[in-house]
Amino acid sequence: MATLKSSEKQSSDILVIGLSQKAGKLTIESSNSTLNAKSLLATLEDLGATGKSEEVTKVPFTSPRMIVVVGLGESEKEFSSETLRRAAGCATRSLAGHKVADFALPHKNSAQFAAIAEGIALGAYNFTDFRGSTKIDQKAPLNSANIISKIGGSSEGKASLKRAEIIAAQTHLVRNLVNTPPSHLTPDSFSQTMKKIATSLKLKSEIYTHTVLKSKGFGGITGVGQGSANPPRLFHVSYSPAKPKARIALVGKGITFDSGGLALKPAAGMEAMKSDMAGAASIVATIFAAAQLKLPIAIDGWAALAENMVSDTAQRPSDVITIYGGKTIEVLNPDAEGRLVLADALVKAQEVGKKAGGLDALIDVATLTGAQGIALGTRTAAVMTNNEELSDKFMKATQVSGELFWPMPLPEELRASLDSPVADMANIGDRQGGMLVAGLFLKEFVEPSVPWIHLDIAFPAFNDRGAHGYTSVGGTGVSVRSLISLLESF
Ligand code: BES
Ligand code: MN
Ligand code: ZN
Repeated sequence: MATLKSSEKQSSDILVIGLSQKAGKLTIESSNSTLNAKSLLATLEDLGATGKSEEVTKVPFTSPRMIVVVGLGESEKEFSSETLRRAAGCATRSLAGHKVADFALPHKNSAQFAAIAEGIALGAYNFTDFRGSTKIDQKAPLNSANIISKIGGSSEGKASLKRAEIIAAQTHLVRNLVNTPPSHLTPDSFSQTMKKIATSLKLKSEIYTHTVLKSKGFGGITGVGQGSANPPRLFHVSYSPAKPKARIALVGKGITFDSGGLALKPAAGMEAMKSDMAGAASIVATIFAAAQLKLPIAIDGWAALAENMVSDTAQRPSDVITIYGGKTIEVLNPDAEGRLVLADALVKAQEVGKKAGGLDALIDVATLTGAQGIALGTRTAAVMTNNEELSDKFMKATQVSGELFWPMPLPEELRASLDSPVADMANIGDRQGGMLVAGLFLKEFVEPSVPWIHLDIAFPAFNDRGAHGYTSVGGTGVSVRSLISLLESF
């Protein structure tokens, strides 16, 4: 984790600045007014710099020793927070192996300052837990950064730095959990590790074991987990500040590996299914961040954990299971397992929420459908809801966080495709609109009076292409920042 500070003066050998472009004309964009832009621009032109986003040009210099020039795209009076966040992250990634750098990226307000801080902290990440002989070849992420700014010294600026560090640390926790292979991350180990962190943050948590889940009737989680040697768990963590302004329940899909079960997935790409617990990791990390930020919101988190495997004890297509609370489900496709574990957890979350006086919001986060990627691509996640007001509030929060989400409908006419000839419902329906059908399935387990949003983060949770902006390869940690921004808006 990079530590962040801010001052008006340069204090290291490396300086990061921005470069923009309009009609072929390059412009240096920097919060450092002492820089001689003219001679530097000539050098950048010689080097063929274009100012495009994701472009990093390193220029040897005398004092500082090196200038790192990061593209900001088209020249603007003011750059958007997300442009600055990505540029800061991109520059930070290029500085792996260095200890310290000064960042003089342009900014006019505290939101932009905060975005630069977040970009740096998020970009300073790598994952080497499972490297042996090649570990020494890996460059350590940038260790500390000084943001050159007039804003950073204010109390608001200082709070932004602290917030960026907390948010990045929790995003990195999600990335680490997603990147950890299923050989080393099971429903039990996930629960144990999270319980330790929860305890260190003075949060209450409990682990529902396989036996407890069975005896209490959590047929979704136990059904999905029954084919695996690594038994399922339900992990519950709660943050209860004094005099909360709102009460929220978060539910996460925690499939530590999704082989597809007897509907076995093709070998090509199956490895990405170690990311199928990203929702669970995200909601737990969000609660940890909320506690560290001391947000005045009571939050219960429910991570529904199981490994979806093939074996003689695995669920068979046509098996009927009973979800917590009594609804029966015909499991036509054991690869549509996320909705089964989520159904149990959604019902439990509402039961506990009701006892505590009612929920202001119920939010589930899940790598739920391949159809998400068909509809929105690899980087934009989906939002579905039974409550437009809450969905709008969440979309506003994504404007602050810079994460890409898009609202999707839950068309009533698709619901009938989930009808089963033998049980209350089947676990699959129409293939067309598969993401929406999955959302409609979950909706059946949500009380109409409870404001609910469902986040399908299937592809955005795991980046199996190149690193970009502040996003590393592998687990991305998507949804944590938007959830925090949402909690802050209550
Ligand atoms: N975990 C997958 C969804 C997924 C696919 C996440 C690709 C990330 C990348 C989920 O459990 C699944 O297998 N869904 C099926 C549902 C279908 C059988 C109705 C799917 O999307 O194919
Ligand atoms: Mn599946
Ligand atoms: Zn899955």
